[in-house]
Amino acid sequence: MTDTTLRNPSLEELDRQTVLHPFTPLETYASGALGDPRIVTGGKGIRIRDRKGRELIDGFAGLYCVNIGYGRDEVAEAIYAQAKKLAYYHTYAAHSTEALIRLSDRLVRMAPGTPAKVFYGLSGSDANETQVKLVWYYNNILGRPQKKKIISRERGYHGSSVMSGGLTGLSFYHAAFDLPFGPIRHTGAPHHYWGAEPGESEEDFSARRARELEAMILEEGPDTVAAFIGEPVLGTGGIIPPPKGYWPAIQAVLKKYDVLLIADEVVTGFGRTGEMFGCTTYGIEPDLVTLAKGLTSAYVPMSAVIVGEKVCSVLEQATDKLGAFSHGYTYSGHPLGAAAANAVLDIVEREDLPGNAARTGAHFQQCLRETFADHPLVGEVRGVGLMAALEFVADRGKKQRFDPALKIGARVSAAALEQGLIARAMPHGDILGFSPPLVVTPAECEEIVAIARRAVDKVTDELRREGHELLLTAPAI
Ligand SMILES: Cc1ncc(COP(=O)(O)O)c(C=O)c1O
Repeated sequence: MTDTTLRNPSLEELDRQTVLHPFTPLETYASGALGDPRIVTGGKGIRIRDRKGRELIDGFAGLYCVNIGYGRDEVAEAIYAQAKKLAYYHTYAAHSTEALIRLSDRLVRMAPGTPAKVFYGLSGSDANETQVKLVWYYNNILGRPQKKKIISRERGYHGSSVMSGGLTGLSFYHAAFDLPFGPIRHTGAPHHYWGAEPGESEEDFSARRARELEAMILEEGPDTVAAFIGEPVLGTGGIIPPPKGYWPAIQAVLKKYDVLLIADEVVTGFGRTGEMFGCTTYGIEPDLVTLAKGLTSAYVPMSAVIVGEKVCSVLEQATDKLGAFSHGYTYSGHPLGAAAANAVLDIVEREDLPGNAARTGAHFQQCLRETFADHPLVGEVRGVGLMAALEFVADRGKKQRFDPALKIGARVSAAALEQGLIARAMPHGDILGFSPPLVVTPAECEEIVAIARRAVDKVTDELRREGHELLLTAPAI
């Protein structure tokens, strides 16, 4: 570091010196080898702007959360108005605010399952942490202290706190953090492309996954298994819609052994799949639902746990014995979050964003399929509504993966970025993910797909030039 940078460091340098960034290689970044941070200064619609004046299409809506798009004044004004009136009050010991009461009434009327009450947090991770505590509390009240295990899935993503990080079924979220912690088991991912036997239909594969789940419950002992948690569509694990028949088969097993179902709708909630909730899209009847991201479109941090009738009535029964419900956060039900959520849900309903995700999403999925179905680098194009993924393979016919060291997903993502598109290299496998704001137009979808095509072609050409054997045998583009 020079004297000048010490005296007057750039914002970029200050960031490297002071911010511990999530999901960033710490030393490579701190040393400057990874380059400058992207300092984001503004956004409008589906686009963001950075400090260097670059405008980018955000094909991932931040972290699939800015569903209403950037720069919606209406939400900013609702937050401002609430802050002027009352910036904060807590919800302990029966305190409340009007914004929160209106929001809760709305969520109880719209949420899937049999919603009775809403508990609030600040992130998807803390909401799933709450889910685990609710399930344990519920079984303790019912006099079943041994019924505590939570079954999650390989490739599931449920957050990165202590319990939610363990529920996450991606090993690099566990490594060196001593996770999973506690009574968590993982069952197989509903990923037909990689998980099915040769010739196995989606229905047969789903039935097999359900049998495996049943075998796991029986092996663990049904009286020890409390809940199953799953995303209606696997998100961070690779944007993987469930194979046909998956959710009905899984739910039949859970009912048989009195295992609660927690639907993690953090990504799918509020329109992403083309309906208001992923549960509706797939006929899921959850006991508990986790919401975050789309609830406020990330304008303010807020998460919600929707507590279904079955669990809620038991929690209320415990008052005589246990007294107050001793779980909560300083910021549970924060009025600024509630004001933001009400304004966001007004937009979601008024502009029918689930409907747009269905219609524009269908166009997006079709463009992706037409553009990539025969591409030598692309083994599978998949998605639902406005979430989609390209799975890159070294050999389509033999379904052969690339050497992970080649980091194909990351290279395609970088090539897209060069051309002005943020599309996410999903962390597990060579996968490029898309999840644009739900306000995206058909023309913008075509632009996203055209840029993605140029990026995939660029990397394909590079791989050919580098002499990667398997690609040389693949058909020319
Ligand atoms: C399905 C799902 N659940 C939970 C979480 C965790 O949310 P947060 O990052 O707000 O803690 C995420 C985050 O991406 C998610 O995708």
